[in-house]
Amino acid sequence: MVSRVIPVDPFDLVIFGATGDLARRKILPGLYRRFVAGQIPETSRIIGSARTEMDDPGFRAFVAEAIAEFIDAKKRDAESITRFLDHLRYVAVDAKGDNGWPELAALIRTDVVQAYYFSVAPSLFGDLAERLHRHGIATPEARIVVEKPFGRDLETAKALNATLAAHFAESQIYRIDHYLGKETVQNLMAVRFANILFEPLWNARHVDHVQITVSETVGVGGRGAYYDKSGAMRDMVQNHLMQLLCLIAMEAPYRFDPDAVRDEKLKVIHALQPVVPEDIVRGQYRAGTRNGGGSYAEDVDHRDSRTESYIALKVDIANWRWKGTPFYLRTGKKLRARASEIAVVFKEVPHSIFGDEEGWRENVLAIRLQPNEGMTLSVMIKEPGPGGMRLTEVPLDMSFAEALGEDGADIPDAYERLIMDVIRGNQTLFMRGDEVEAAWAWTDPIIAAWEARGDRPKGYDPGSSGPEDALMLLHRDGRRWREMRE
Ligand code: BG6
Repeated sequence: MVSRVIPVDPFDLVIFGATGDLARRKILPGLYRRFVAGQIPETSRIIGSARTEMDDPGFRAFVAEAIAEFIDAKKRDAESITRFLDHLRYVAVDAKGDNGWPELAALIRTDVVQAYYFSVAPSLFGDLAERLHRHGIATPEARIVVEKPFGRDLETAKALNATLAAHFAESQIYRIDHYLGKETVQNLMAVRFANILFEPLWNARHVDHVQITVSETVGVGGRGAYYDKSGAMRDMVQNHLMQLLCLIAMEAPYRFDPDAVRDEKLKVIHALQPVVPEDIVRGQYRAGTRNGGGSYAEDVDHRDSRTESYIALKVDIANWRWKGTPFYLRTGKKLRARASEIAVVFKEVPHSIFGDEEGWRENVLAIRLQPNEGMTLSVMIKEPGPGGMRLTEVPLDMSFAEALGEDGADIPDAYERLIMDVIRGNQTLFMRGDEVEAAWAWTDPIIAAWEARGDRPKGYDPGSSGPEDALMLLHRDGRRWREMRE
C-alpha cells in the first residue's frame, strides 16, 4: 500500500520558542520528516524565533543537531538536510518588548499561508498575540498554534480564550492536543464510522464497560516544577484521556468536518457526570530500584507534595447511548509498562448454550495507541481438535505496521500530522475553545473536592501497575483491569 503525500500550500511558519525543548525534540525534526516526504513546497520557510540572539547559520546548526539527535540515522541524509536547512530563518524577538518585531514584520510574506506556533510558556500567549496584531504582522487568515497546558482551571482557560479572541478569530486558533494527532486515535473514528460492524453494538445494551489506560514508565523528569502544580488529572485526564473518551463515546458527526466533529465531542463532555470520591484513586510513586530511583517527592523536590502521579477514575456518561456503562480511566508515571490502549469490553452472551464453560471470556475490542499501534478483537472459538466442545479465546490481531507494509513502519508522529493540518487550515484535530472550557468545568469540582478534603495520594512502587486501591475500583464492580504490558 502506498500512501499519497499531498503537498501543502507554500507557507511561512514562525516558531516562537524555537530553541526550546518541544521545538528541538518534536516540531523541527517533524518538519524535516515532512520535507523529506515531499509535503513541504520548496518556497516555504520556517522561521525560528526566541529571545536568544542568533543568526540564520546559528539556527541552522541548532536544527541540524536536533535532526541528528532525534531522527533515526537511516531516515536522514546530508543532502536532504542541507536542502531543508535552506528553508530556515531566524529572528530574535522579545515577547514582552518591541525588540525584533519590525524585523519579523519585514520578513513575513503576506501571499502565502502564515502560521505562528506558540511553543512558549502560556503566560506569553497574550503578549505574542497582541504584538502580532499591533505590528500588523498577522493577516486575517493567519493561524496561531497554542500548546497545552491551556489554563489550569476553568477561570484561567476562559481568560486565555478571551486574550486570544481579542486578536484572533476562533477559526484562526489551533489548540494542540497531540493525542488527537496519533495514528490510532484517528483510526478510532475510521473504525467506528466507516464500518457497519460495530455501531449496532456500540451502546450500553452491549458494552459492559470501557477501559482507557495511558501508562508511562518515565517519571516526571525535569518537569517537576510544572508537574507538581498540575498532577495527572490536569496533565493527562483533562485533555488526552478526555479526548479519547469523547471519540469512543460520541455520536456520528453528520460529516467529517471540524465543527461537526467538535460539536459531538462537546455533547459528550457536557454529559459527563460529577465523579464521587469513592470512584477516584490517586497515587504517588515511591522510591524504588526500577525506573530510576527517586520518589515522586524527591523528583519534584517537594517533601510534602499531595500531587498525584497516578489517577484512576470511574466516569459515567448520562445519555441514552451510555447510561449504565462505566468508563474507567487510568494514567500514571513510573508504571510497569509504556502501554496505552482503549478497551471496549462487551457483555456476555444472553445465554450460554455450552453450559458453564471454563475459560469463557467476553469479547474485547482493544485499540492500542502505543507502542505497536493496532487493534485486537478477542473472540471465542472452539478449541481445535477432538474431545468435545471446549471453548477458547483467540485474538483477531491487526498491527497497523504490518497491515500497512512499509508505510506502516513510517507512521508520522502526531506533531507532523498536526502541523500539516494547520497549514491546510483543517481544525478537526484541534480543540475548540468551548470544548476546553467544558473539560475544565467537569475537572474543576473533582480537584476542588479532594483539595478540600486534604486527601493524600496512595503510595505505589515504581514498576507496578499503580496503587492497590485502583484494583478495588473495578473488583467491587465485578470487573478487572486489563494487564498493562507493552
Ligand atoms: C504530555 C504530558 O502532554 O503527554 C506528559 O504533559 C506526558 O506528562 C506526555 O508524558 C505523554 O505523551 P506521549 O505521546 O508520550 O504518550
